[in-house]
Amino acid sequence: MSITILIVDDEEHTRINLEALVKEKGYSTITAATYAEAKEQVTKGNCDLVLMDMQLPDGYGPNLLIEMANLPYHPPVIMITGYGDIDTAVEIMKNGAMDFLTKPVDFARLEKSIKRASDIIAMRRELDHLRDEQNQSVNFVVGKSEKMKEVVELAWKAAQRKANVLISGETGTGKDVLAKYIHTVGTRRFKSLVSINCAAIQSTMLEIELFGYEPNSFTGAAQKRKVGLMEVADQGILFLNEISSMPLEIQAKLLTAIESQSFLRVAGLQPVQVDVQVISASNRNLPQMIEAKEFREDLYYRLKVVEIELPPLRERREDVPELVGHFIRHYNMNMAMNVQAIEPQALEALQNYTWKGNIRELSNAIERAMILCDGEKIKMADLPSEVRHPA
Ligand SMILES: Nc1ncnc2c1ncn2[C@@H]1O[C@H](COP(=O)(O)OP(=O)(O)OP(=O)(O)O)[C@@H](O)[C@H]1O
Ligand SMILES: [Mg+2]
Repeated sequence: MSITILIVDDEEHTRINLEALVKEKGYSTITAATYAEAKEQVTKGNCDLVLMDMQLPDGYGPNLLIEMANLPYHPPVIMITGYGDIDTAVEIMKNGAMDFLTKPVDFARLEKSIKRASDIIAMRRELDHLRDEQNQSVNFVVGKSEKMKEVVELAWKAAQRKANVLISGETGTGKDVLAKYIHTVGTRRFKSLVSINCAAIQSTMLEIELFGYEPNSFTGAAQKRKVGLMEVADQGILFLNEISSMPLEIQAKLLTAIESQSFLRVAGLQPVQVDVQVISASNRNLPQMIEAKEFREDLYYRLKVVEIELPPLRERREDVPELVGHFIRHYNMNMAMNVQAIEPQALEALQNYTWKGNIRELSNAIERAMILCDGEKIKMADLPSEVRHPA
């Protein structure tokens, strides 16, 4: 993520020093020597973060916070003060500064502070939906973790090549969302994505749901032919959710159907030809089930031409800010709210918490916080107590 930092100080050597230190860490910089210049840069939206000196020749640094409060969007501000007294600090923080540091600047402290600000900036960009165009139409947040970048790259390739994909991952890690993503970015996006939850359907019904039946399979002769989902998904994608719940007999029939791209309806005699890409998802360990003879190994290999494992949220905490921004935007629309910010400490608590229910649980926590909050900003007190005080 590219971040531009505005460095405001009337002393040239301070500006040069700070600029060199910050640039070395890979951030872009612009500078201002006066209050007026700083205000102009911020108003024009030229920076993502401000490092602001207190005493400037033409104004008092913290006043910028008050003036900025009316802007539709204002970047986080880190105040740098030569007078480290408590009163000033309290005043600065009350006016909405992210942090304040005393001169001479301890660079390790500054770097930490910038890191915190960059989480807020990432959250904010997602909230404003400033993502790259390719992903804009999809409600799928990638985040900045290497793991998720790999996930998306694999998913994208599989989507272009119509490969069968097996998605594994704990509950709430986004298996359903990833299946939709593959459909949306792939060559089959104009055809259907047909989903079936194998755990939610009685096993006798599952076969009929998947493959359909011919009227003569039932005593009631008036029955009409039923078209199965495999046929509905022709040219498109069949999403087999919770595949581990599929009974072995149906697994056998599915294997044949995938291999030959044709199948018989229940009680049917004429094979039905299809062209179906299969995405399946499981939160159980299929290799273990194969060991226990509960899942067919040959089917497993057919399903996992491309295998994608979604990491649990606790292994990609750096993605939390963007997800938080995404959910704030989502619930703003759903609940007709206008929440625009989150306290840095609250964002940190969300990042540090071990989400057993993964993204689903995070989403619920944000929804709850938005219901409780003052309507503009999520505060620490709005978070569930287990997030505020983790065991
Ligand atoms: N990458 C993502 N971007 C945005 N929202 C996400 C993402 N991943 C998951 N979510 C959200 O998290 C919630 C859970 O996702 P999903 O239903 O896809 O999880 P799952 O892995 O299928 O869970 P389960 O195993 O319980 O079926 C949904 O509300 C979904 O919108
Ligand atoms: Mg699911």
